[in-house]
Amino acid sequence: MTDPRRFPSDIILGAATSAYQIEGAVDADGRGPSVWDTFAATPGKVADGDTGEPGADHYHRWADDVDLMASLGLQSYRFSIAWPRIQPDGSGPVNPKGLDFYRRLVDGLRERGIRPMPTLFHWDLPQALQDQGGWENRDVAKRFADYARIMFDALDVRDWLTLNEPKTVVEAGYQHGVHAPGFRDDARAYVALHHLLLAHGLAVQALRSSGGDRRIGPALNLTPVYPAGSGPKSQRAVRHADGLENRLYLDPILKGHYPDDTLQWIAARSPMPTLIADGDLTIISERVDLLGVQYYTPRYVTDDGEREYRHPTTQAWWQEIHAEGMYDLLLRITRDYGDVPLVITENGMPAPDEPDADGAVRDPWRVNFLRDHLDAVRRAVADGARVEGYHLWSLLDNFEWAEGYRQRWGIVYVDYATQRRTLKDSALWYRDFIKTRDLR
Ligand code: FCB
Repeated sequence: MTDPRRFPSDIILGAATSAYQIEGAVDADGRGPSVWDTFAATPGKVADGDTGEPGADHYHRWADDVDLMASLGLQSYRFSIAWPRIQPDGSGPVNPKGLDFYRRLVDGLRERGIRPMPTLFHWDLPQALQDQGGWENRDVAKRFADYARIMFDALDVRDWLTLNEPKTVVEAGYQHGVHAPGFRDDARAYVALHHLLLAHGLAVQALRSSGGDRRIGPALNLTPVYPAGSGPKSQRAVRHADGLENRLYLDPILKGHYPDDTLQWIAARSPMPTLIADGDLTIISERVDLLGVQYYTPRYVTDDGEREYRHPTTQAWWQEIHAEGMYDLLLRITRDYGDVPLVITENGMPAPDEPDADGAVRDPWRVNFLRDHLDAVRRAVADGARVEGYHLWSLLDNFEWAEGYRQRWGIVYVDYATQRRTLKDSALWYRDFIKTRDLR
């Protein structure tokens, strides 16, 4: 018999969601349109023509969902605030009904002993701001800081996240055209990147000036890069890929400069380097209190920089299951970026889960995935990584962006026709694990 592998009791265990993916109610109570409403309404952009409606109808069912979280024993809930509910036009007057929704949610969480962890931007930029150039427009970073300030004043919350996965906005939204706003243009992509990072820094400064001992950081999707070849050519390919995957985001925020090699590569494709104004990197590197880490997949690169698949994939074509990547990533961040506290803000896998004849939703693949990744976190912590919390993605099945509702990422099954929730086996496993911390 193997020894029980105990997960540290002081690491907070929770789950994550985002506004556009679960709330539905896109026209309710004065919400303005976001870039994702526009994108999803464009024929051919989202599988099956799906949109954020109905989502998991969480806007109306939030109280039941909070009860559900309490029944699972979640200690923390990471959600995002829909900017277009707060400022329907992206700037100017606040929509009180939008604010009230998040106030009620935060109160409900707190009453049930669950820590709220809001993300200010999880991709649903107000369409009105996109009409003014979106993230290519430097002013939008300032509008983001205004909106952040509104939220800091409105919600009594300790831990905040600024941006969710700026890399995905840059790559999927501006380079591959598969996410909103749907461009395929390297030149524009890196301009957007710089302004996203500026927005992050301005929001951190806004929190600092709001007083109190509140904490804030970005939520970055990071990817351990491994060589698929050997020798110097391979090392160069790995370093280049690591620049684009990781250092391009970590270095400016945590070290105050863009990585030279990556910036040079960008300079050949985008005017972005010429748009970096004096003082921008000081803003971008305003001290953060925590780093949100999202881990889904490793990436192996050949000598020519192509991706090579080495591990089993999931329903998401881009995901290889490799729990060791979590371990490597956490230790690498600790080694290269010092002792910023780490909070895992996303980690999970999709499957086309459906109920059995008896109504149970059996997802042994997800139980194995979670157990293996949590064990990698445990080992990383034992070896020196400073991890404070773990949030699986996702609490509920939801609108998975360009994949629509086909991919189910939740530990809770959502029947979109009736909006009935059913705990999958992985939810039952996680509920027990939160109590026992036993990884056997
Ligand atoms: C991440 C996103 C999240 C969800 C998961 C599967 O990139 O932050 O919204 O789509 O992937």
